[in-house]
Amino acid sequence: MSLRVGIGYDVHRLVPDRPLILGGVEIPYEKGLLGHSDGDALTHAVIDAVIGALGKGDIGSFFPDTDPTYEGKSGAELCAELLERLKGDRFTLLNLDATVIAQAPKLSGFIPRMREALASFFGITVSRVNIKAKTHEGIGSLGRKEGIAAMAVVLLEKEDSHEEETD
Ligand code: CDP
Ligand code: ZN
Repeated sequence: MSLRVGIGYDVHRLVPDRPLILGGVEIPYEKGLLGHSDGDALTHAVIDAVIGALGKGDIGSFFPDTDPTYEGKSGAELCAELLERLKGDRFTLLNLDATVIAQAPKLSGFIPRMREALASFFGITVSRVNIKAKTHEGIGSLGRKEGIAAMAVVLLEKEDSHEEETD
């Protein structure tokens, strides 16, 4: 048995006329996150953490946006592909912890649904998913509500294998 840790970070700009989606959950707000997909900074940070733990680069190299297959894919869809890779390589996601930095809106009431959604994306129990929300204390661009950022840490466990690791 071996353990692998990974870290992820993402930030997206808040703009009008977009839904606000964080951790796969739509949150009522006057603006949403800009991105070629759903702009789900939390899910993207989690994906980057998992890819980091796998030692496979980042979301941009793992899901190249030059490949039209991935253009516009939601965080949930990207997680589904990543989960197949985890299973194929016999990794289990032991736990994930994340922090969302959002001056607004207030997220605490949505965190239980975000935990459930992220747990379902990776086929794990909700108790293995923790999500925290912070303001940016009004400081800088995040404090001016120009965007929302997220960071995540994951721990993966790999089943014992005497075979060579695959790429
Ligand atoms: O008190 P501290 O400076 O550590 O944190 P804060 O950024 O002032 O946030 C206080 C609490 O508000 C957090 O612990 C979250 O529970 C909640 N919060 C939230 O629900 N939604 C946000 N966008 C930011 C913070
Ligand atoms: Zn992103």
